[in-house]
Parts: sequence; structure tokens; C-alpha cells
Amino acid sequence: MIWALAPMDGITDTAYRQIVKEIFDKYNTNKNRELLLFTEFVSSDGFVHNFDGIKNHLIYEEKEKPLICQIFGSNLQKLIYTAQEIDKNYDFDAIELNIGCPAPKIMRLGAGSALMIDKGNTLEIIKTLSKVVKRPFTIKTRAGVNEEDKEKQKKFIIKASEYCSIISIHARTMKQEHSGETDIDFVLDVKNKVSPNCKIIFNGWITEEKLQDKDFMVKMNKLDGLMIGQGAIWNPWIFVDYKPSWEEKKETILKHLKLNIKYKWERTWVIEFRKFIWTYTKWIDNASKYRVEFMKVDNFRDFKNIIDKI
Ligand SMILES: Cc1cc2nc3c(=O)[nH]c(=O)nc-3n(C[C@H](O)[C@H](O)[C@H](O)COP(=O)(O)O)c2cc1C
Repeated sequence: MIWALAPMDGITDTAYRQIVKEIFDKYNTNKNRELLLFTEFVSSDGFVHNFDGIKNHLIYEEKEKPLICQIFGSNLQKLIYTAQEIDKNYDFDAIELNIGCPAPKIMRLGAGSALMIDKGNTLEIIKTLSKVVKRPFTIKTRAGVNEEDKEKQKKFIIKASEYCSIISIHARTMKQEHSGETDIDFVLDVKNKVSPNCKIIFNGWITEEKLQDKDFMVKMNKLDGLMIGQGAIWNPWIFVDYKPSWEEKKETILKHLKLNIKYKWERTWVIEFRKFIWTYTKWIDNASKYRVEFMKVDNFRDFKNIIDKI
């Protein structure tokens, strides 16, 4: 069964993916569980007009594989160009189109969730992209635009499944954005009807508690995989049945920061890292005291000095 780290812009960069992968390879004992990683989404407009602005999103290491590159956009020519160039010049395991992001800045471009509105046109985009790339093609979408759209969305996913090797479904509607109940039955029903060659992955508010819930896992086992987003933010151990000690967490935090610095500027990263320290330090006593200290540092040495004190 696939356990996927959801694509998350600003979070699932190569550094974080490497951390998740390393922990998975070290601690996973379940032979039926395979980890699947995704890049942060790559703008096709950016790819065509401002490659320097998006090139960081395309950095990866061989050891992260299997790894899928996700792109977004709405202009067919730019999507074709982006998908083909990535297909030619990089060695991802598949190329994916985002059909689910509800962020206004993405929707305004007619991309992300907006692609669920004119489903006929989007199906043509899917058909075309799946044909112009040599490697497998996948999509990530939602349960529809709103409640009323769900039946139409099911039909759309069933048709799309003829061209996709994986469809990940965030089981909420566009209208729900990131909160509210997820509709597992929607995904189970789709799974029964799609092409047998297309894998179906469930996504939407999978937490550590949910993974312990037997009824929930029985449903997940009827699918090809599950995908974890926010539950995995700075909790790279969620994919394995292993609880790290604080010492191990410290090591991971420093490794994660070091990897970020390897790919990006030190000062930028130490400052960016502040926002993540909250989750990493969730389980320690006196966390708030240290968090205040973390907010003041801008280089690796000072950051490490605080970690060493905890
Ligand atoms: C910070 C953040 C960034 C995200 N970026 C992307 C993205 O680049 N591509 C994408 O398909 N979904 C993106 N998502 C949506 C997640 O992949 C996932 O579908 C959503 O968070 C629901 O899963 P969860 O409840 O497990 O978090 C993002 C979500 C978050 C919170």
C-alpha cells in the first residue's frame, strides 16, 4: 500500500523529503507499505517565463525516488511545454497535474481547483498531457467544486482514470478548502468504478490518531494508498510505527536545517526555519522559552547552541 507525503508548497522541498525518506528506510518494518514523495507544485507560467524563480522546486536527489513532479497551470501550451521539458530533462517517476488547489492566487489563473469547473476542457488537458509525456501521468484533485458537484466529479475522475496511473483525491470539495469533514465514501465509490490500471489514493486530515483507528484503516486498505499532508509537517515519523526520543529529534532537526542550507542560503534558511520549530518542539518542556530564543537567531551555529541546551 502506498503511503504518500502530500505535496506542500514551502514544506516538501528536497530537504524535507530526504528527511522523511531516510526515516522511512530506517524504521519501516511493514513490507506492504511503500513511501511515495511529491515535489512542491511547479508553476507552468513560472517554468516558461521565469525559470530562475521556480528552479528550486525541481531539485531532487536520486535517493528520494519514487518521486512525482507536480505542475500547475491552465494554459494548455504552457502546460505541454513544461511537462515535456521536465519529461526530457529530469528523471521523475511521473508528472502530475494539480486540479485541487483552492488558493485564490492559483484559482485566478484558472488553475488548481478552477480546473474542476469546466471538466470537459480539463479532460482534454489530461488526455493531451498524458500523451505528450513518456513517463506515467497522474493527477491530484478533490471531491468536487461543492456538494452538488460530487456526482459530476465522480464521472470526471472515472473518465480521467483512463489516462492516469494514479489519482490522489483530497476528499473535500473546493468550497470546503482545508476544513470540514472528508468524504471517504466518495473515494471508496470512485475506487470501485475507475480503470483497474489507475491507483486511487485518499487524502484529507489523516492524523496519528486516525492511523490507529481500525475502522478507518479497514477503509484505507480497500484503496491503493493514503496521503498525509499537515499531519506530516515536521513529523517525519508519522509514516513509520516508531516514536523517536528527543535526542533523535534533535539530530533530525539539525540534519533538516543543514540540508536546507546545502540547497539554499544559510541566513534565509535559519530564518525560514523558525516557523517550523514550533512543531518540532511541540513535545518538550519549556518549549515556549526556547521558541523565543529561536526567533532571534540567523545562523546555524547559534541555532545549534540552543538545540544543544534543550
Ligand atoms: C502549506 C500547504 C501547502 C500545500 N501545497 C500544495 C501543493 O503544492 N500541491 C498540492 O497538490 N497540494 C498542496 N497542498 C494540499 C495538500 O497536499 C493536501 O491535499 C491538503 O493539505 C489536505 O491534506 P491534509 O489534511 O493531510 O493536510 C498544500 C497544503 C498545505 C497545508
